[in-house]
Amino acid sequence: MTLSAATRTRKIASRVAELTGEGALAVYSRAKELERAGKSVIHLELGEPDFHPAAPVVEAVQRAVADGHDRYCATRGLPVLREAIAEYLQRTRRIAVKSEEVLVAPGCKMALSLAMMALIEPGDEVLYPDPGFPIYPSFTRGLGAQAVPFGLREGRQFQPDMQEISSKITARTRVLIFNSPNNPTGTVFHREELERIASLAQEHDLWVITDEIYARILFGGEYQSIWALPGMSERTVIIDGFSKSFAMTGWRLGYAVAAKPVIDAMDMLVLNTFTCAAEFTQLAAAEALRDTTGAVEAMVGEYRARREIFVAGLNGVPGFRCVSPEGAFYAWVNVAGTGLRAEEVARLLLEEGGVAAIAGGAFGAGGREYLRFSLVSAPEQLREALRRIAKVAGAWAK
Ligand SMILES: Cc1ncc(COP(=O)(O)O)c(C=O)c1O
Repeated sequence: MTLSAATRTRKIASRVAELTGEGALAVYSRAKELERAGKSVIHLELGEPDFHPAAPVVEAVQRAVADGHDRYCATRGLPVLREAIAEYLQRTRRIAVKSEEVLVAPGCKMALSLAMMALIEPGDEVLYPDPGFPIYPSFTRGLGAQAVPFGLREGRQFQPDMQEISSKITARTRVLIFNSPNNPTGTVFHREELERIASLAQEHDLWVITDEIYARILFGGEYQSIWALPGMSERTVIIDGFSKSFAMTGWRLGYAVAAKPVIDAMDMLVLNTFTCAAEFTQLAAAEALRDTTGAVEAMVGEYRARREIFVAGLNGVPGFRCVSPEGAFYAWVNVAGTGLRAEEVARLLLEEGGVAAIAGGAFGAGGREYLRFSLVSAPEQLREALRRIAKVAGAWAK
């Protein structure tokens, strides 16, 4: 697409230049190009489940549309869904939430950006995990604030370093964002770390945004939300949604949980932007939360099986080292032992092996020596990917 001369001379708002994208999409485009040229590619680059929503959810959306539930509706979400979310969080995460503390948005990312718009002022500092979801620093910069990374390092099993976080808090620090289980490392923050984050937040009067989108995709133990810690519900925003736990990526449905004044502020932003999430997807989402077929547990069982196969296989590849993820559906692999840059390893895997993965630099400077593989293909595909990776490894394993 070429821009007309007039468009080129008119100025686009500077905040857009502060934003950056997500690395997965560039790899995906290249992989698609190779496929068009006749090459077979195993797609392990996107964070998109290869499952689809359970049958009762699909039936519920069809029924909702047939019954005419396709109108404008409540800006903060249908009361029936907000109540269902509050009940679901109590049941699955043991946290006490009132439905007035819930706001529904089209996607977890939208819920996240509304929360950030509601809480962050230009000039503020925002702490975020590195490696982590690239939208946190990008959108922070877009709001005119400063994004300050805190490292998640392999030497600490990718748990946050509280001394580092503490040393990076200044008078301008306003928000700390984290994601547990973390994309891309798969780390579940320990209870002690959550307690330390909570006490720092209280000491320095910070907001905490906890992105819990992978909370259900857990390979052991019970999920602990920082919301449940004493004094935290008033300064915490939970971000979650239906994309990963219920395999509903394209439905665009997420939600935020926060104290009522925060939800009221976000509601005003909704009114000024997208008005409401679609009525029929919200009705079907309430059905998803009921999970009458046990779809979530079955899906997590499948991810667990894939993790066992793939992580063990990757650890057998010369120059690769992979800590088994405790949650989410990614394998985060240290490739420093190959002697090549991660981008070069990713390039060789895609171009010569037909396996698409993302070089970890897309998740922050702390990811420079890593590759991320998504466990979103069936076991047989993952075994084939391992065979292909082993073949390409000949390029560095001399
Ligand atoms: C950590 C994290 N947060 C948010 C999202 C986006 O979720 P949604 O598709 O519901 O907008 C993703 C998707 O990859 C993610 O990994």
